[in-house]
Amino acid sequence: MRSVSLLAVGLRLTSSGIAGFTVPLHVAFAERDWSGKDKDGNWPKWGDDGRWNKPKEVGGAAPAKAPGFGIRTTDGPLPTIAFIGGTGRMGVHLCAAWAAAGYDVTMCSRSKDKAKKIVDRLVAGEGYHEEVMQGSISVPACPAAGWKLKAGTNDEAAEADLIVLGTVYEQAWGLLEQIAPKIRGKGKTVLDMTNPFLKRPDGYGAGLPKDGPQSGIEVHKQKLGDPTVKWVGAYKSVLWSLVLPTGPKNPSRPDIEVFGDDEAVEMVSELIRMHGWNPIVRGGLDVAKDHEGGIPSPKKVLSNMYREITRGEKLSVGW
Ligand SMILES: NC(=O)c1ccc[n+]([C@@H]2O[C@H](COP(=O)([O-])OP(=O)(O)OC[C@H]3O[C@@H](n4cnc5c(N)ncnc54)[C@H](OP(=O)(O)O)[C@@H]3O)[C@@H](O)[C@H]2O)c1
Repeated sequence: MRSVSLLAVGLRLTSSGIAGFTVPLHVAFAERDWSGKDKDGNWPKWGDDGRWNKPKEVGGAAPAKAPGFGIRTTDGPLPTIAFIGGTGRMGVHLCAAWAAAGYDVTMCSRSKDKAKKIVDRLVAGEGYHEEVMQGSISVPACPAAGWKLKAGTNDEAAEADLIVLGTVYEQAWGLLEQIAPKIRGKGKTVLDMTNPFLKRPDGYGAGLPKDGPQSGIEVHKQKLGDPTVKWVGAYKSVLWSLVLPTGPKNPSRPDIEVFGDDEAVEMVSELIRMHGWNPIVRGGLDVAKDHEGGIPSPKKVLSNMYREITRGEKLSVGW
């Protein structure tokens, strides 16, 4: 039991008029565990039937695999993927989802050991839970037979076809610069999901200098200076906890904005569909500054509402 002491304030009539008074109140209430664990303190498991085995009141059924999950929409081999900063909130949730959809994924980190501990849990079908800033990384236990998911260093990302910049914006260029000599001229695709304008409690997300490109992806493209690289931005407004290995946690909001170079947009649009979401293509890199997340401006909120009403878009914007 937890108790809280409050002061109730009221008014009463006296012979000389109206006077204020206060009454101390002690309210006691039972503590509730909001973590999502069951009554025995275990994290929920996920059965082969795609349902949580946890009581309804703690969360109910997990969504079954979303429509289109794992279905190819283009020809040719699937690209291999490496996620730089893959042990973070977006990294763990997306690496699991992409591996579940059939992709060959490397979870890259400054410490391969750190990534391996997470990967081992995921490929054993145990899911992964870790309390982190602003919540938790929480991939439910689910069958992972056949997942092609491995751990790597950030340097090993150079080997993949699709390199994901998924660390905080301020650290992303330093990591990309390290692998630049290995990727230059090789026609790689870079998926940049960094948000330079999304202020975080740890101080990252402080914005960009006014006298340069006003999007992170354009800054990275300019710094790398490799005309063979195809650039794409996506997932910038999708909250990590909404990405499950079966598709969106909220199946009624499956849309993800994508923009960039045509070939890269096509590759990432298929990636998005393959794990049960729906790509909404906004345009080339010139639109990046309007779609890099950050604090939602009234203009952005209104234009999202307008597109939802007129075009039926259902962007995943935090719920
Ligand atoms: N969180 C979201 O919902 C969300 C949504 C859309 C886009 N984004 C964007 O996606 C990116 C990643 O976000 P996140 O929330 O996943 O971040 P995060 O949980 O804070 O972690 C990202 C990873 O970056 C690496 N890292 C941290 N500090 C570093 C440093 N000083 N040098 C090099 N690497 C470092 C860490 O990996 P290692 O320790 O393993 O190296 C960490 O696990 C950000 O740019 C963010 O704006 C986030």
